[in-house]
Amino acid sequence: MSDIVHDDHPRTLTILFATETGTAQEIADRVAMQCRRIHVQARILSMDSYSPAELISEKMVIFSVATTGSGKEPRAMSRLWNMLLRSDLPEDLFEDLSFAVFGLGDTAYEKFCWPAKLLSRRLASLGATEISARGEGDEQHPLGFAWLLCTYLDISAVPRRSFFAMLRHFVSDKLEEEKLDEFLSPEGADELYDYCQKPRRTIREVLEEFRSARIPREYIFDVFPILRPRQFSIASSMKAGFYSAFCLRHPRQIHLCIAIVRYKTMLKVPRRGVCTDYLVHLKPGDRLPIGLQKGLFALPPDTATPIICVGPGTGAAPMRSIIEERTFLGSIANTLYFGCRSAHKDQHYATEWEAYVVAGSLTYRPAFSRDEPEGAPRRYVQDLIREDSKRTWELLGVQRGWIYISGYQVLSCPFENVLTKTIHCSSANKMPAGVKAAIMHAAQTEGAKTKEQAQDFVWMLEREGRLVEECWS
Ligand SMILES: Cc1cc2nc3c(=O)[nH]c(=O)nc-3n(C[C@H](O)[C@H](O)[C@H](O)COP(=O)(O)OP(=O)(O)OC[C@H]3O[C@@H](n4cnc5c(N)ncnc54)[C@H](O)[C@@H]3O)c2cc1C
Ligand SMILES: Cc1cc2nc3c(=O)[nH]c(=O)nc-3n(C[C@H](O)[C@H](O)[C@H](O)COP(=O)(O)O)c2cc1C
Repeated sequence: MSDIVHDDHPRTLTILFATETGTAQEIADRVAMQCRRIHVQARILSMDSYSPAELISEKMVIFSVATTGSGKEPRAMSRLWNMLLRSDLPEDLFEDLSFAVFGLGDTAYEKFCWPAKLLSRRLASLGATEISARGEGDEQHPLGFAWLLCTYLDISAVPRRSFFAMLRHFVSDKLEEEKLDEFLSPEGADELYDYCQKPRRTIREVLEEFRSARIPREYIFDVFPILRPRQFSIASSMKAGFYSAFCLRHPRQIHLCIAIVRYKTMLKVPRRGVCTDYLVHLKPGDRLPIGLQKGLFALPPDTATPIICVGPGTGAAPMRSIIEERTFLGSIANTLYFGCRSAHKDQHYATEWEAYVVAGSLTYRPAFSRDEPEGAPRRYVQDLIREDSKRTWELLGVQRGWIYISGYQVLSCPFENVLTKTIHCSSANKMPAGVKAAIMHAAQTEGAKTKEQAQDFVWMLEREGRLVEECWS
């Protein structure tokens, strides 16, 4: 929605280390170097030359903390640690702070990595958000990058050609070298596609096959892609949530409507979405790092302007926030086209839509593709819009209404459920294109436009910002 704060991921961070014999500093230096590679500016400081008060205004800090005599913190950490232990600190002091802690210790000691553990616990109790599980380096084992791999790098991604080009430098087995040379040759492009993209083979699986690969630490960030953030539309109105005296529906909450990504590849290997699988395993009270990004949808300035929301499946998410906000603002000129397989299975927010209908503030048009009788063609949102041509033209052509489109681009593929096979869909099934074709149909049949004029009409809606789509594949 338009009034969401724009807050991109911070591109700067502070790395604080506390060392006795230099290892924690070495780790901090390495993290800083990797940050520079990915164009994140890192300020690196020993904790004893850092003013503890500064921590309050930090956005993101990585701590690298050694352990000394009987689980004590290194001397460099004492000043900061004593400040953090003060009992008069408010619980939300570090509300804006995201942090990660890497502890260094030795499992031969009873209190392994104690200061790192205590630090992460204390920061969390003061409102800070731990953006990744605490890392622990054990002197008994070589300090690995497993933590980094699991936390920041995406080894579940389907690798690009550039990954194979990098990998080629680090394999030593003759057959593996030849295979990679083949993949990377101009003639090998199809073979690489069949090996990798088509079966959606992941980096982890590729590495299991190219077993001679030894990737030096300093190249880790060149070889492996960084875990990228996933986007989800906000399904609740901030305004309706915060300000209404009568409908404090969700104060200080953000609602999401998320389809859990699960499917099987053509090689019958089960796959889970990286982010949605992580979300599934969250427990109430867990904290997670998020960022807010301004969406494409904005409301018409005049609440009397009619709007049409087209949001099948999880495309209902932004529509729910739009409709909540519009009804909160007193508008009744709202139409929603929602689509799902069955009225009884995946009709998100059905009771809320019904309540709006009863209150007279929503025209609700659901399409249930699998509830049609045997043999009958499946109906999708674009089919309903086509059926409603008269009303569609009245709202968009005559009353100069706005239309929003959101959701998976391809409707006839059951992407939103557990898939047993990969399905290839023709572009004719694309939902946004189908919706635009239905609008053109309305312009032709009800607005007496020629085909070319109807196309111009849709382009005009887009140019004027009255037709906005936010879809994903
Ligand atoms: C602006 C925007 C808003 C969005 N809003 C929402 C929302 O409100 N709700 C929502 O649920 N999603 C939304 N999405 C989509 C969501 O971001 C993606 O589904 C996301 O990739 C899920 O993350 P993941 O890590 O769980 O899956 P990933 O690990 O990223 O896996 C997803 C990928 O798996 C592949 N895949 C998935 N199914 C199959 C299949 N059957 N066959 C072959 N390959 C497949 C595709 O390549 C897909 O890109 C939005 C996307 C955008 C861009
Ligand atoms: C005197 C001494 C005491 C230590 N006590 C602990 C301890 O109680 N718990 C622990 O996990 N590690 C302990 N260690 C191990 C160090 O934390 C570990 O070697 C670490 O890598 C050192 O990091 P640094 O070089 O940054 O100081 C101790 C090491 C020394 C030399």
